[in-house]
Amino acid sequence: MIDLSVQLGRLHLRNPILVASGTAGYGRELADYVDMALLGGFIPKTVTRHPRPGNPPPRTVETACGLLNAIGLDNDGWDYFWQHHWPHLQTLPTAVILNIAGKSEDEFVELAADVARRGVGLAALELNLSCPNVAGGLDFATDAERTRRIVRRCREVCPNLPLIAKLTPNVTDITVIAAAAAEGGADAVSAVNTYLGMAIDWRQRRPRLGNVTGGLSGPAIKPLALRAVWAIARRRIIPVIGVGGIATMDDVMEFLVAGASAVQIGTANFYDPSVACRLIQDLPAAIAQLGTSRVRDVIGTLQTPE
Ligand SMILES: Cc1cc2nc3c(=O)[nH]c(=O)nc-3n(C[C@H](O)[C@H](O)[C@H](O)COP(=O)(O)O)c2cc1C
Repeated sequence: MIDLSVQLGRLHLRNPILVASGTAGYGRELADYVDMALLGGFIPKTVTRHPRPGNPPPRTVETACGLLNAIGLDNDGWDYFWQHHWPHLQTLPTAVILNIAGKSEDEFVELAADVARRGVGLAALELNLSCPNVAGGLDFATDAERTRRIVRRCREVCPNLPLIAKLTPNVTDITVIAAAAAEGGADAVSAVNTYLGMAIDWRQRRPRLGNVTGGLSGPAIKPLALRAVWAIARRRIIPVIGVGGIATMDDVMEFLVAGASAVQIGTANFYDPSVACRLIQDLPAAIAQLGTSRVRDVIGTLQTPE
């Protein structure tokens, strides 16, 4: 019997495989493909204070080995979420991690305080400090001081929920931002959100995305995300949730060995919506191949040359 459970700060998960925010709606969308009773956790699409129409189309473009998106945090806002999505989400037999984004630091704190007031059965709160597709500075995690402040203030107003800071890779040194999140009191960081990119139709001399630039995800970014996770994990700054291009059992195992305590599956859900469940079913055999019976014994065991 393989023990798949993992611990990230105060967050306990029955297994390390989660579905990433923005890639599977609010849970209903996966109902035909995913047995929620198997998943380590589910993270719904980012919710903001006010409804957002998102960016003008086209909002996604396929590139070689990757997906470029500029959705722009399209969502129906806070009140709608609690009225229409939460009643369903709270019935799911898995850890539900709410992902929020504020337009300002104060708005993050306001939303986190409201979560605490509602006292609902969430497993954790993920702060999306890293959406690259929104004008007006929502990419908070490019700045260490701001990251530390937002995490600290959210932790103060929402002390009882494990807090995860979702980081952007679009920085010089992600370990500095991870350290700031740890100092602010985060239980874990999710690394990474999408990499800034663009696609061009040269014949028309036009960008392919309505927003001109977007965020790159999928297999193309896996080696980049893997390095980011390893860089944070090797310094033992804070528990890391690896995300970026994960689609196969090898990908999952590489992230665990690199030091991720859990992983999120994002873009792969779009072309293979049952992938997360399959990976969970195959995980015990992969762990056993390393001669151990606990996933925890695999995390961060990468052997590097002296
Ligand atoms: C279409 C699309 C929408 C996304 N929306 C969100 C979002 O609302 N909130 C968020 O935190 N991340 C969002 N992400 C980022 C993913 O959660 C993930 O961090 C990123 O795509 C890298 O993982 P992947 O390569 O497995 O997709 C989105 C990604 C895609 C492709």
